[in-house]
Amino acid sequence: MHVSIFGTGYVGLVTGACLAEVGNDVVCVDIDSDKIDALNHGRVPIYEPGLTPIVASNREAGRLHFTTDAAEAVARAEIIFIAVGTPPDEDGSADLQYVLAVADTIGRHLQRPAVIVDKSTVPVGTADRVRAAIASALAERGVQIAFEVVANPEFLKEGAAVEDCMRPDRIVIGASSDDAVERLRRLYAPFNRSHDRIVTMDVRSAELTKYAANAMLATKISFMNEIANIAEKVGADVESVRQGIGSDPRIGRHFIYPGAGYGGSCFPKDVQALARTALHHGHTPVLLQAVEAVNERQKSHLFDLLVQHYCGIDTLRGKTFAVWGLAFKPDTDDMREAPSRRLLQQLQDAGARVRAYDPEAMDEMRRVFGERDDLLLCDSAEHALQGADALVLVTEWKQFRSPDFAALRDVLADAAIFDGRNVYAPEMVEEAGLAYYGIGRGRSVLAG
Ligand code: UDX
Repeated sequence: MHVSIFGTGYVGLVTGACLAEVGNDVVCVDIDSDKIDALNHGRVPIYEPGLTPIVASNREAGRLHFTTDAAEAVARAEIIFIAVGTPPDEDGSADLQYVLAVADTIGRHLQRPAVIVDKSTVPVGTADRVRAAIASALAERGVQIAFEVVANPEFLKEGAAVEDCMRPDRIVIGASSDDAVERLRRLYAPFNRSHDRIVTMDVRSAELTKYAANAMLATKISFMNEIANIAEKVGADVESVRQGIGSDPRIGRHFIYPGAGYGGSCFPKDVQALARTALHHGHTPVLLQAVEAVNERQKSHLFDLLVQHYCGIDTLRGKTFAVWGLAFKPDTDDMREAPSRRLLQQLQDAGARVRAYDPEAMDEMRRVFGERDDLLLCDSAEHALQGADALVLVTEWKQFRSPDFAALRDVLADAAIFDGRNVYAPEMVEEAGLAYYGIGRGRSVLAG
């Protein structure tokens, strides 16, 4: 099938590469000519496992093209994806200017009947606005061409995006005609083999499904962070509690890991946008507001533990902290809304120095924080430890999981570890002679 995709961010690029991989002829369009230029020279602008090889092989095979030429991309396609960003505007609502600009472009250049697929995360009712924008551009041209707008939200996770795209656990299609559903069924057939993963519904329900999924996951995390904070107060270990509740299949073991707060390009933005939608329709989203408030507080929790250990904020001045892990989660270089950013800011405000290391996010770090005297960007985890007083783990990359604790004790002047993801066994750390602080583990009292 001839497919064109607007937007070469995570969603657009991964979707384009995966659709080409199963034999479609795919054109990816972006207004950013530098990005298109880089992609045409084989440079993939994001770190995403497995993406670079399939971009390269499909480009070579002539099935995957990158262009800034929107007119050509629209004219040739029978299916057109909209996968551009929907960043939050000042009040937290999703900003639809990019989505609607693409809709206008489609209307200006459409030459043949097509299915237009909203893949961006968009508030309920956006498909109607996209349809209206295309219709009005067509009317201006004085032409009539049949088209349908379908909501087909993406559920891919950064770091596992290619895998999620090739082996989705569900494919949600919100459409108002059987014909559009049928066309998408054909497009997705290679990803829908062993059992039917396609869930069809009306357009608005599909739009809401995406927000509901992300809000539910964010709720699980904030709930566990709340329990962790209670555990800390009452002297319980949230890790035991997690295992105790996760074995109930109604609760499940996934996504109940307490930590330094959720970040990334989706949860913070989508929880806020859904709350705005609710308010806009006269419903106060009490639970969503709490989910966000808990997360905001959680992002300061590691710093609070440091203040607690050092018996006050003033003592942090002049201290040096090794920070391991900066990306918002492992296996990505994405620093958007990363909890590390809050911690680094708080340490800077307190007059502390930081030696930071992340396996993939150092370039992003440099872009976000620039050169600073109090922030040294290190080449390795070991390098970050040199001359540090204590270690703070913010992102649980595999390579940080089993350090030599005895060596850590020798190198860290204050012999203390602040484990923002509960990856270490407190007993092992304490046996090595280091103070251990986790999230909700009731140990900080013992260690302090
Ligand atoms: C998420 C959704 O998972 C995906 O379906 C959607 O399409 C986009 O948003 P992503 O933003 O890539 O994907 O990240 P995800 O792996 O879901 O993690 C989000 C955040 O939650 C991370 O900061 C992570 O550290 C945190 N998290 C996750 C926890 O704190 N505890 C958990 O148990 C799970």
